[in-house]
Formats: sequence, structure tokens, C-alpha cells
Amino acid sequence: MAGITDAEFLNKVIPYGFDVVTLGGYSLDEKTIEASRKIIERGRKEFHFEIDEVIPHIESEVNLIKNKYPDIRVSANVRSTVPEPIIEASKIEKLDIIEINCHCRQDEITAIGCGQEMLKRPDLSDYISQIVDGAESEVSVKIRANVEGIDTLDIAHKIEDAGADYLHLDAMDPNVFDADWKLLRNVCGNTDIKVIGNNSIDSAEKIQKMYDCGVYGFSIARGVISGNLNFNIADF
Ligand SMILES: Cc1cc2nc3c(=O)[nH]c(=O)nc-3n(C[C@H](O)[C@H](O)[C@H](O)COP(=O)(O)O)c2cc1C
Repeated sequence: MAGITDAEFLNKVIPYGFDVVTLGGYSLDEKTIEASRKIIERGRKEFHFEIDEVIPHIESEVNLIKNKYPDIRVSANVRSTVPEPIIEASKIEKLDIIEINCHCRQDEITAIGCGQEMLKRPDLSDYISQIVDGAESEVSVKIRANVEGIDTLDIAHKIEDAGADYLHLDAMDPNVFDADWKLLRNVCGNTDIKVIGNNSIDSAEKIQKMYDCGVYGFSIARGVISGNLNFNIADF
């Protein structure tokens, strides 16, 4: 969660039983960094670093987690209009996973064709393949489900074919505070990529429901902000 999930925050939630944590999202190229600046200007929480500072910053955040929890896997969620800075970030020594953000829906990010607008790029497959080929960490692609005009299963196939290791799927149902279970089942049942199911998890029952859909793993965002999860993540 941009502006929230730094190393200090993640070190506090790891004891709840998570085995992977995600830093960011961070903006890596000039266009997305400028967009982040504008997001902060209108008062929304956001990480903002200059172009020559951002990768060293992520590296120091990764080290803050690894120094305390060497066995926890660390992912960094990043945005860039071009693939090169993402490949560069994947070379951070102890970073386990680089996650391409095709999910953000803030106007400043979508206006430059980034975040969820990436799903409409005709060169999306190429963009992801270039990162997969150049990356020195595993590659995850985070997407939002049910984006207007986008067939989520079709995008899932593109991401799988491009060679990404994980599809991190925010199975948002735009009409309710709940995941789109039918879509989640459809994507898991018709792809072989490791799907990390996400959206609205606030109970052990919902985690089980995600596994029943066929996910490889699950992630929780808003539910961890309170630091008050009423179930043990390590049970799953
Ligand atoms: C304040 C806030 C900031 C977020 N920032 C990011 C981000 O930078 N990158 C990203 O991929 N998702 C971001 N998300 C989306 C969450 O990671 C997650 O996909 C979404 O909230 C649904 O999961 P949840 O129901 O467990 O919260 C953000 C969500 C919130 C509430």
C-alpha cells in the first residue's frame, strides 16, 4: 500500500505469520515519479523518491526486513512506464520478488498509461517478457480484476505466457466489499500460473474460500492496517 507499507510497518506485521511481505508501491521512472509527486500534492499517502534515490532506498528497506527476519521473502511493488528501471530494481541483492504494478487506479498514474491502464497496452506481453528475461529476482504481476473493457482471464493468460512467476490478482468486485469468487475460480481453473488471491480478506473463512477457488496463496492489505487480525495466518 503506497505510503504505508515500508519496512517499519512490515516488520510489525510479520509476527502475524506472513511468509512474504510487499514493500511499496514505488514509482521508478521520471513519468511515474512526477505522478507520485502530484498524488502527494493532493493529500494522498504515497512514497516519493527522486530517480537516483529510489532503488537504493528500496534496497535499504529490504535490508531492514532481512536483518530482522532473514527467512521472510520480500517483494517490491513498482510502477514504471518502461521496463528497464524494473529490471534494475530486480537486481537488489536480497530482494526475492519484483512485482509489476498493473493495478493502481489513481488518475495521475492512469493518465500516463501506467497502473491498471497497463492492461490496455498492446505491448503488455512484450513489456512483461522483457522484465522476465532481464530480472534477477522472481517476477509477479499485480492486476485488478473487472477493469472495464478488459477480459481478466485473457490478461491472466498473457501474464502466464510472458513467463511471470506469480499473478497477484485483486479479485475486486466493483459492486460489493467482497472478492469476485466466480472470477477467481475461473482464472485459477484455466491457468497454471501461481495465483495469489487478494481482496477483502478479514476472516479465516475467507482465506479458506480463496483456497477453495484454487489459489496458490493469498494476500491481505487493508485488513493488516489495524494490526488487529483475529486469526492466525500461519495456520494456512
Ligand atoms: C491506501 C492503499 C494503498 C494501496 N497502494 C497500493 C500499491 O501501491 N500497489 C498495489 O499494487 N496495490 C495497492 N493497494 C491495493 C491493495 O494492495 C489491495 O490490492 C486492495 O486493497 C485489496 O485488498 P484488501 O481488500 O486486502 O485491502 C492499495 C490499497 C490501499 C487501501
